[in-house]
Amino acid sequence: MNSPSVPARTQSWNAAMAASPGPLDLVIAPDAMEGAIPSALHGSRVLSNGPGWTRIGDRTAHPFDGHGYVRSFSLRADGSCHLQAEFVKTPSYIAEADAGHLVHRGFATNAHDAFWKNLKKNVPRNVANTTILRWGDRLLAGWEAGAPYALDPETLATRGEELFGGAIDGLATLAHMRKDHAQGRLVLCNIKAGRNTDFTFREVDSSNAIVATTEATVEGMVFTHDYAMTSSYFILGGNPLRLKPAALAMSLMGAGTLLTAVSPDKRRPGRLHLIPRGGDGPVRTVTLPGPAFVVHFGNAFERDGDLIVDACAFEDFTFGEEFGYGGTDAPFDPARPEARGPQKLYRITVPGDSDVATWELLTPHGVDFPRFHPEHEGVPTPWLFGATRKDTRYSDPFDSIIGVDLRDTSAPNQLWTAPDTVFVGEPLFAPDPEDPAEGHILALLSDGLGDRTTLAIFDAANLAAGPLTRIPFPLLPIAFHGDWLRKG
Ligand SMILES: [Fe+2]
Repeated sequence: MNSPSVPARTQSWNAAMAASPGPLDLVIAPDAMEGAIPSALHGSRVLSNGPGWTRIGDRTAHPFDGHGYVRSFSLRADGSCHLQAEFVKTPSYIAEADAGHLVHRGFATNAHDAFWKNLKKNVPRNVANTTILRWGDRLLAGWEAGAPYALDPETLATRGEELFGGAIDGLATLAHMRKDHAQGRLVLCNIKAGRNTDFTFREVDSSNAIVATTEATVEGMVFTHDYAMTSSYFILGGNPLRLKPAALAMSLMGAGTLLTAVSPDKRRPGRLHLIPRGGDGPVRTVTLPGPAFVVHFGNAFERDGDLIVDACAFEDFTFGEEFGYGGTDAPFDPARPEARGPQKLYRITVPGDSDVATWELLTPHGVDFPRFHPEHEGVPTPWLFGATRKDTRYSDPFDSIIGVDLRDTSAPNQLWTAPDTVFVGEPLFAPDPEDPAEGHILALLSDGLGDRTTLAIFDAANLAAGPLTRIPFPLLPIAFHGDWLRKG
């Protein structure tokens, strides 16, 4: 990719997507940083997960199929930062590290060009590469269609699948898990797709015991990657899917992939499904004012009998080209996702018992990776932060961080934009314990051309001022999701 004919931004993106530095254990001293780690963050940690190995043998895997690579950035009391990075030692990682090439199929990557060699491996392999959070005495690395993997929180050593006493053995568990801070519960969502789609939400207490279960069936086959929740509801995007019969047949025969065998069903309107938490009552289906394919939700809460939901929605979506993936023999290209329309951030209001919602566009910018106060799930929260583009015409890859003031949605957005060849990851909000509207934003900035990743720390109430602190690291692969762990 280091050719004068390839745009610098494309070179940078490709380098950052394909980076694979392997296990790391290093300390960045205070004098190697620009600025200093704010004392309010001392003792806290940033966690990050994403594909850390995508060029596997002589094939480039779709990022969804790259092996999970967990990063932990400990912000120490002496002002230094300790980075630990390690692969999640799933059976597929171990097999492919041993073989030196792809062994199993993924969602969007075949192990072989010859279709008959893929036939016996129709179930995508679990690579534990999508989310990371702490629950009790373990970290959980989530993936989209299997169990999360438990890791030692100090060493990142893989303990194995976390099955919660066998409750989710063999089930597809969404990578996104949500925490009910008020009740001290972790929520897992299991999904079974068919003519209709079955959902089971399991609520887990701090001892890993399942203390509540909600089951529901939604009409049709729907795409679900994330959900929102309040004390009364689990909230899903309607996201109707259409099977492409020829592509599905190809996938089942070992050619093509599962991801490219489905597409959004544009014949059906944007909808939300509201599932009564605890299973009390039927699923409510609510029609939205326009097309909406929701991948990520922000927060949700109830106010005077109305339900308020913040969601990032595409008007349309094409599977398979995420992160600029172009196939097993092509470089990553940031122009591919730019060709589709950006996700729009809406505040959706469902009045009372109505089955028709209204929505308010919260910013003209496209927004993804929405994050908010980690202890405000289901209750009003002052800020939503997300990854965005400065130019409102474009979707990802992201070059900016946005802050939306949810206390006054007419207030101007906060925006900070990175240099041209630097890419912005999910912004994590580390709130002040005394004032939930104050705190810091922590985000990874990827500079493929400069061969560097920076952990940047911002004043959450003044993003435009730019980073207070820049902590430099070797180039790390682009990550998906992370979490911030408060001290202690
Ligand atoms: Fe996600």
